[in-house]
Amino acid sequence: AGPSSLEGVRVLLTAGPTREPVDPVRFLGNRSSGRMGYALAESLADLGARVVLVSGPTALSMPRVHERIGVETALEMHAAVMSRVADCDLFVATAAVADYRPERPADGKIKKSAEGLTLRLVRNPDILSEVAALDPAPFTVGFAAETERVADYALGKLRDKRLDMIAANLVGGERGGFERDENALSVFWPEGSRDLPMMSKTRLAAELAALIAERYRERHAA
Ligand code: PMT
Repeated sequence: AGPSSLEGVRVLLTAGPTREPVDPVRFLGNRSSGRMGYALAESLADLGARVVLVSGPTALSMPRVHERIGVETALEMHAAVMSRVADCDLFVATAAVADYRPERPADGKIKKSAEGLTLRLVRNPDILSEVAALDPAPFTVGFAAETERVADYALGKLRDKRLDMIAANLVGGERGGFERDENALSVFWPEGSRDLPMMSKTRLAAELAALIAERYRERHAA
């Protein structure tokens, strides 16, 4: 196998948003379309990996991967990942997972009555941190979506969560990030970094997949 082959490597990858129920008809969500994650799943599969995709709700069709597991909430995504993680060599967290969920979703549709409404939110498990803390842990790649100081925050997450790699993007701007067809990434690993400039998410995914494969192969060369 060459430096960028992932032949025989088992990949578990999360993508898309999560939906956190408020009541039977409403949820808290975010702007992730799943495009970046689906493109990366296919690029990793193109390098020979057997990819299992855990996906939040998206409008995308089934990508060219081994298996796709559909989930809705962060707790469901957490359960799906934890039940599969022992069988993977490489974990990639592209999903935009809600950090908080409503503490207790209402049983019936919340009626419009008072002038204000307070929702109490509680923390969701951090899937990426939990996976990185496993012993043994798979080779773990995180994403970081930031609206400012991208490199600082990404390096913080790489260190604090003890990741093998992190791909950081600027979100909320004119170009790139959530929903769009193109994106740019700054990729960091403990010994180095690489800037991947603005391009289509398909091309960007291919470049990131090659970078992941190189680092993964280097780790497993010894
Ligand atoms: O889906 P698209 O429209 O194509 O947009 C792509 C994207 C902007 C969503 C993607 O490129 C991206 O940045 N994904 C990560 C989004 C995110 O939630 O970032 P974060 O900085 O909040 O989280 C950091 C990392 O922890 C991420 O790898 C995330 O998957 C993971 N995480 C976060 C919270 C949580 N409870 N569990 C997690 O695993």
